Amino acid sequence: MRYDVVMIGAGPGGYVGAIRMAQLGFKVALIEEGTVGGVCLNWGCIPTKALYSATKLVAKAKAAGTMGIEFAAPRIDISQLSAWKQGVVAKLVDGIKVLLKSNGVTLIKARARLDGSGRVALSTGESIESERVVLATGSSPAEIHGFSFSHPGIWSSTEALALTDVPEKLLVIGAGVIGLELATIYNRLGSAVTVIEMMPDILPGIDLDRRNLAVVKRALTSQRIAVHVDTGASSVETADDGVVVHTQGEKSFEASRALVAVGRRPNSEELGLETVGIEPDRRDFIPVNENLQTDAPGVYAIGDLIGGPMLAHKASAEAVKLAAFFAGERVPLDYDMIPQAIFTDPEVACVGLSEKRAKEAGYEVVAGRFPYAALGKAQGMGETEGFFQVVAEAKSGRLLGAQIVGVEASDLISEAAIAVQNGLSLSVIADAIHPHPTLPEGLKEAAENALGRAIHTANR
Ligand code: NAI
Repeated sequence: MRYDVVMIGAGPGGYVGAIRMAQLGFKVALIEEGTVGGVCLNWGCIPTKALYSATKLVAKAKAAGTMGIEFAAPRIDISQLSAWKQGVVAKLVDGIKVLLKSNGVTLIKARARLDGSGRVALSTGESIESERVVLATGSSPAEIHGFSFSHPGIWSSTEALALTDVPEKLLVIGAGVIGLELATIYNRLGSAVTVIEMMPDILPGIDLDRRNLAVVKRALTSQRIAVHVDTGASSVETADDGVVVHTQGEKSFEASRALVAVGRRPNSEELGLETVGIEPDRRDFIPVNENLQTDAPGVYAIGDLIGGPMLAHKASAEAVKLAAFFAGERVPLDYDMIPQAIFTDPEVACVGLSEKRAKEAGYEVVAGRFPYAALGKAQGMGETEGFFQVVAEAKSGRLLGAQIVGVEASDLISEAAIAVQNGLSLSVIADAIHPHPTLPEGLKEAAENALGRAIHTANR
């Protein structure tokens, strides 16, 4: 078999790239040993969001008492909830298969490995020849030494999202993105959740303004999610009804289940890299140049496999960039401009530079903030926690970054992302008429605040 491109891995990097390359006229084979959609669709972003929205109903029902509406305590049928979540995933998986077919991508179910220059060997025994091979095999949950995912008392995000049962006491190890998202979901499902984090603060990998981070910390406390920072898990023992996790300090934690969410590592093993002379770096990522080319001619890599932010939309953006490169076009990709959304309650979303980083980068900055509590829509929703924040270059007013912590922040950040990615100024957002009453008014008001002309809050 001969193709113009062989894409290995059908996650949000691989399947998006395969479709775009096919649209550009390349004959593409997409090799996937599991299910199309990869971790994001099957065991990550989508099941998380389905469970986030379903369990948000529980939180909303609990809070409705202040609006004069009382619900009885919810009865949660875990197997029905799990089946519904799986149905959401299945619909999207089917949708991708249709898109692959209608774009003329050949999907092959097999495990693939490089087999010398221009050749890929499949677990089916077949071999494919191609001028271009793209590695898009993603990442897997990282283990802590001694905490094996084969232990029934220890979960990775994959087992947590399978939703087989709700542990009475859940210990989450790692207050990063996955740890806090799953802590939020399981707390709403009824687990008593404790989170331990080895660093001095939660979300250490996210450059959040300390006032925005404080909103998240207050919310965790009010949801009765206990958080212990400066507390690294070091060993685990099996107990009668679960596990006991010991830390580097004196504290130990008993739990029915421990969820290890301490990062992800690239799937760069058993890819036959040695057959083409590619050497992963010391953290097992595959080095690439600005055109996503590895050290081996004709072999490219994208997504979690090459490091940088481990985000589905980053992998998709690299895939589209690579497709353009194959077609002879150079598309720049500024990694500082990639937005991120975190599904805690309230949500967190950011794009571009924080105020601190903008100053460190030498900008003279102007910033503006606006509280959700001053938004009519947020008050009407009973969701008043949080802030909109914008950071701009003082002289030109060019928006450098934005952070939103509050309800629907994940959806609201896109307006700021368009502005940041296109070098738009504060006045473009401030002068645009936003419909009232809506949540995006918060971004407009934050921009007006930075310009010293906010109507609904005191100006700086
Ligand atoms: P992470 O890097 O965000 O967080 C891992 C946390 O575990 C860190 O805070 C680290 O200090 C802590 N840690 C490490 N070893 C520890 C130990 N022994 N004891 C206690 N704490 C320990 O990694 P996470 O949450 O596993 O996510 C992996 C990747 O997936 C990240 O790059 C994340 O951005 C991405 N992701 C993004 C999502 C989103 O944008 N909504 C959702 C899920 C994942």
